[in-house]
Amino acid sequence: MILLRKPEEVQNLITELKSSHKSIGFVPTMGALHSGHISLVNQSTSENDFTLVSIFVNPTQFNNPEDLKKYPRTEKQDAALLETAGVDAVFLPSAESLYPNGEDSEHFDFNGLENQMEGKFRSGHFDGVATIVQKFFKLIQPDKAYFGEKDFQQLRIIQELVKQHNLSVEIVPVEIKRESDGLAMSSRNMRLSPEMRNESTEIYRILTAAKSFLKFNSIQKTKEFVKKEFAKTNLKLEYFEIADETSLLPISELKENQKIRGFIAAFAEDIRLIDNMSLN
Ligand code: PAJ
Repeated sequence: MILLRKPEEVQNLITELKSSHKSIGFVPTMGALHSGHISLVNQSTSENDFTLVSIFVNPTQFNNPEDLKKYPRTEKQDAALLETAGVDAVFLPSAESLYPNGEDSEHFDFNGLENQMEGKFRSGHFDGVATIVQKFFKLIQPDKAYFGEKDFQQLRIIQELVKQHNLSVEIVPVEIKRESDGLAMSSRNMRLSPEMRNESTEIYRILTAAKSFLKFNSIQKTKEFVKKEFAKTNLKLEYFEIADETSLLPISELKENQKIRGFIAAFAEDIRLIDNMSLN
């Protein structure tokens, strides 16, 4: 596995790969890797000649400086995991090399996708995500790039970025990988106390219960049900939204053949967890 730290090194490698007509799969991550990330990696290695994974804790997408500071950094462990998974190259850039003119985001308009849910509660977050992903796409020019449905809104926004800029990369969505008790895998989970780790399984339980509840009840009643269920736990619900999968607009009633999803953000003490589930 090749270790790259400088954008110039990536550029040289990409030129070489392009001239030998190798297909490039790209998996952007912020490290602290777990099996969720590895399922993206596995899909990439199976579909491409060459897989490149980036590990970069992108400062511009953190609206909370404390969260950025506390974000787990496990570089050695990550590199070992990626090597075992058969990754060809890992890119570990410095912030200065990607943001030579200071850590600023570009401002994007994603047709309203950026204003819902995470966009409401994490101001500037998606501008930061789109800024860094766009930089990566320019540099790496991947044939395919892999994004998890764990961050469903992020996935939709990247699809929109590609559409708006007419980029030639194919965005491949990958299903949410869960722990055996249902908790969606996340780098943040390792910061949970044993009690909160246990309590966090309520998120999946309530999402699943909401899906069943919605079969016989209205959207409004289902939202109330979720709020009540959270009130019984030690988690603090930030939002529960039921939205159209494509537009991400909240819905108030079900239309036939409409694909919808439930989206949750909740705090386990000071750790913010998100999850989502198809409700069809
Ligand atoms: P990060 O949170 O490290 O996630 C990297 C990728 O792994 C994302 O596409 C995310 O959706 C996916 N992922 C995380 N947990 C998953 C799970 N349990 N199941 C399936 N996929 C999962 O998302 C980011 O980093 C950043 O915003 C990034 C895109 C790298 C830009 O900085």
